[in-house]
Amino acid sequence: MRRHVTYVVVEGQELLGTLKALASAYGPPAWEKDVASRIEEALAPISSERWRDNLGNLFFRIGRGRGPRVMLVAHMDEVAMIVRHVDESGFLHIAPLGGLDPRVLIGQRVVVHGSSPVDGCIGVKPPHVMTPEEMKTVPNVKDLYVDVGASSRAEAEAMGIRVGSYVTFPPNFHLSGNRVISKALDDRAGCAAEVAIARELASSSERPELYAVFTVQEELGLRGASVVVEQVDPDLAVVLECTVAADVPGVPPQDHVTRLGAGAAIRAMDSTMLTNPGLVRWLIGLAESRGIPYQVQVMTGGGTDAGRIHLQRRGIPTVVLATPCRYLHSPNLMLDLRDLEAVVRLGIAVVLDAEGALRAL
Ligand code: CO
Repeated sequence: MRRHVTYVVVEGQELLGTLKALASAYGPPAWEKDVASRIEEALAPISSERWRDNLGNLFFRIGRGRGPRVMLVAHMDEVAMIVRHVDESGFLHIAPLGGLDPRVLIGQRVVVHGSSPVDGCIGVKPPHVMTPEEMKTVPNVKDLYVDVGASSRAEAEAMGIRVGSYVTFPPNFHLSGNRVISKALDDRAGCAAEVAIARELASSSERPELYAVFTVQEELGLRGASVVVEQVDPDLAVVLECTVAADVPGVPPQDHVTRLGAGAAIRAMDSTMLTNPGLVRWLIGLAESRGIPYQVQVMTGGGTDAGRIHLQRRGIPTVVLATPCRYLHSPNLMLDLRDLEAVVRLGIAVVLDAEGALRAL
C-alpha cells in the first residue's frame, strides 16, 4: 500500500482540490458550461475583466501587469458521445465526439444527458453468443449502443433523451499515492494548472500582462482556439495540455513519448506545430535553472490548440507545457501529481520571464 499524500503545492495552492473539482465536471464539446462555471468560481475574484465569446471560450484578464502580453490556454472539453438514433426498443445509437477507441468503450458505464442525467452502459453482446469471428473483430463506435434500461423509444424519450443528447463518462476521481485516475484529465489537468498559475501570479506586481483563456471544442479539431488570438492579441501563448505517456507494458522505450513521474513535458513537435527551437532551448534552460523536472517530447501525431494559435496574425510565439497522462481518451486516465506540479512551476517561470522567451526566438 502506498501512502496517501495531501497535496498542498505551489505556495499553498490546493492543486489536487482544483483538479478533482474540474475533472468531475461534465464538458462534452460545445457544452462546456459546467467546467466553465467551476473555473469562474476560482478565477472571478482575481480577474479585472472577464468574458465568454459566442463559441463559449472563457477569458480572464488577471489583475494588472506590464510588458508583453501572455496568454495561457487550456481546453475545457472532453471526448464524449452523442445520441444519433433512439430505436424502437429504447436503445441509443451513438456517434463519437473526438477520438474514441471502441475497445475501451465496450462495457463502460456512461451518463446520458436527458432532461436530467441518466445512468446507462455501453452494451456488449455476451461472449456466449458470439461467433469465433466476432470474438476477433473490433466494432466501430457507430456499431455500439447505450442501454439506459428503457424498453421502448417512448420510455427513453420520457427520460428527456433524444437525438442530439450528449453521452459522457461518469465522474470517477480516485487518488492512489501520487497518482490520480479519472475521466477527463485531458485537459482538466491543464485547466487546473492554469487556475493555479493565474492565482499564484495574481498578486505579483512584477509580471507581464496576463490573460487566462479556456477553450471549447479542442477535441473536434481545435475549433474554439481558432478565434481566441483575435480577442486577446498576445505576444506569447502558453498552452497547458495533457499528453501521451505510453510507458506501459508492450511499448518499447522509443515509443513512450513521455513517462509518468519524469516531469513536465516540453513539446518540441507534434503534427500541428513545430516549436521554435530557440524557445525549446530557452524552456530547457529555464527548467534547469529552477530545478524543475522536465522531459522533451517529439510526436509525429496528435496536436493541441497551439496548432491553431501559432499560425495567426504575424505568427504568435507559442509553447506547449504538458502533463504526461496514460490512457488518453479513455474513461480512466492516469497522471502523476508531481508532473502536474512541475507544469505549474514551469508555467509560472515562463510567465515571469516572458521577455526572455521573446528574446530567445
Ligand atoms: Co487535450
